[in-house]
Amino acid sequence: MSCKVKIEGTSFTYDQDAGESILEAALAQGIPFPHACKNGLCGTCKARVLKGEWEYLDGYEGAALTRKEIAEGFLVSCKASARSNISIQWMEPVREQHDERTLEASVSSIELLCPGIARLVLDIGPDHGFNYRPGQYVDFVLEGGRRRPYSIASSVIENNTLDFHIRHVPGGYFTERLFSGMAAGDKLTVEGPKGNFGLDEYANRPMIFVAGGTGFAPIKSMLERLFQTASRQEIVLYRGAESREALYMDGLIRSWEDAYPFFNYRPVISGSLPAAIARQHNDLSDFDIYLAGPPAMIEQAKEIFPAYKHPQDRFFSDAFIYQIPGMEKNKRSILQRLFARG
Ligand code: FES
Repeated sequence: MSCKVKIEGTSFTYDQDAGESILEAALAQGIPFPHACKNGLCGTCKARVLKGEWEYLDGYEGAALTRKEIAEGFLVSCKASARSNISIQWMEPVREQHDERTLEASVSSIELLCPGIARLVLDIGPDHGFNYRPGQYVDFVLEGGRRRPYSIASSVIENNTLDFHIRHVPGGYFTERLFSGMAAGDKLTVEGPKGNFGLDEYANRPMIFVAGGTGFAPIKSMLERLFQTASRQEIVLYRGAESREALYMDGLIRSWEDAYPFFNYRPVISGSLPAAIARQHNDLSDFDIYLAGPPAMIEQAKEIFPAYKHPQDRFFSDAFIYQIPGMEKNKRSILQRLFARG
């Protein structure tokens, strides 16, 4: 007799035979269930049971789980078998992975998007072998071991190019050069892709995207990827800037509104984005929320959203920190480790 396994928050439901593990049945049916050792050791396949009966196979006792996880109803899917129809929830978002590479790129074009923000297009050549997940970033590797991390704004590699949105930081080692002297043909070493920010590929929940300033770059990449898929979940983009002029690419976003009835755009001029979201939504419990922008915006969202029932494990963020020239050395080194641009 077989049981139905439903993975909540995704569109996956599949059959599992008696004596078969929940993981084994999923993989046999082409479902990308997160896993590694398949032997009850690493814990990668752990899942929370929401409903249904199950048992461990081969005398396994849940060695990959903590006591707290056992008490909270987790199981190890490579060692557990459903005994009735069952609903489970994956604990980690499923995201595609790509190997890091070092690329010798050249500047294809530099275009001013609005005062103080430029679009940089890099040509990475025909033999790049590079791939990335929308939401990820690369390091620009500069002289003297300096690095500057920038999120990729494009969702696919077209004509061997990558797009970036770069804010001018007065006195910044890289951005001073970009805004005053760099030109097409200049060389730049790029290392990546890096970072864990990105879409939970198989979630089918409504989504809120929150972009502050050039935090729009990774959000744009993720949205364009979603528009290329069959997903038609509700999407709301909240975008903040200090002035209407600073809402660069506003026309592009409005064209998305015309093209995709499930997409809504809410620009916010010089106000708090998390507060604007809280004013519009009494209950955030159904939403996956993706944020990119200043750390203060992300911290404020972390404080506000739980009061609107938003589950912490559906909150995904990427904090942008700008390196301020002259900042005291210790502080600067901490920020550089985080995500300093300049
Ligand atoms: S895959 Fe490692 S514990 Fe299941």
